[in-house]
Amino acid sequence: MRKRFKSYDFAIILGATGGIGSGISYELINQVKKIYIFGTNLEKLSALKNELSQIENLQIYTEQMNFEDNDLVIKAKIESLNLQKNVGILVNCVGTYISKEFATLTYENITKDFLINVIRPMQIISSLVCYLEPGSLIINIGSSLSYHPKSNRVLSSSVKHAIRGFSLSLAEELAGLGIRVCLINPRSVATSLLKKNSSSESYQKAMPVEDIVRTVAMIVSCDDKTLFSEINVGASQGFLGQ
Ligand SMILES: NC(=O)c1ccc[n+]([C@@H]2O[C@H](COP(=O)([O-])OP(=O)(O)OC[C@H]3O[C@@H](n4cnc5c(N)ncnc54)[C@H](OP(=O)(O)O)[C@@H]3O)[C@@H](O)[C@H]2O)c1
Repeated sequence: MRKRFKSYDFAIILGATGGIGSGISYELINQVKKIYIFGTNLEKLSALKNELSQIENLQIYTEQMNFEDNDLVIKAKIESLNLQKNVGILVNCVGTYISKEFATLTYENITKDFLINVIRPMQIISSLVCYLEPGSLIINIGSSLSYHPKSNRVLSSSVKHAIRGFSLSLAEELAGLGIRVCLINPRSVATSLLKKNSSSESYQKAMPVEDIVRTVAMIVSCDDKTLFSEINVGASQGFLGQ
């Protein structure tokens, strides 16, 4: 069998401190020499950094970034990262979730959710694309809500449709540069985000984070010419254990 010849130098994980993001970070420390982990909370970032420090000679950088901060703050933080053209894997695991009847959503709910789930990821990825080399990978974590909309989840379905459109069209655009973009659409995953927003029965039925991590590991281990533009994990039953 032909082996993957690409070895990745550097990974960046947005939303690394979350349930799915931390699982992916643990997986990727075995694949790279340097890793940048992003989150909103300094304590969570430093706890994750300590846990990831098990690999000898791995360089771990942390960046506290709240996507609700204004454009200038976000732009300045990205520019200060001092990156070189060696980013091999960029993963976006940032997400919030609102389950509310459409008519009860506030203007603030709608603005904030689009900002965190769509606008900032698009802006940040657009600033980072120039540091990706041919053969590198962008992985967006979307949701089964992006193609299987549900009532009371109009806002979450809308942002996930947007990130799906972004990811799939970006995959087309960057293919010519040899950069692969993959969207993973999970159904319910047993993380604190799901626990806060579903019944304990739904949480019990949810798939483990490891299944998303295995999906990422499979993509990373494939030949750098192989593109998985979209992978639906456990999608046949919709969202939140239904
Ligand atoms: N869990 C599920 O059932 C499920 C199903 C389908 C899709 N997904 C998607 O999978 C992704 C990860 O979800 P998860 O279950 O791992 O959720 P999670 O544990 O709540 O993690 C969410 C991540 O997003 C970050 N984040 C939240 N608000 C932010 C903000 N204002 N600025 C910057 N970062 C922010 C969090 O940072 P902090 O840790 O610093 O707060 C955290 O790292 C999301 O896009 C979610 O929609 C999840």
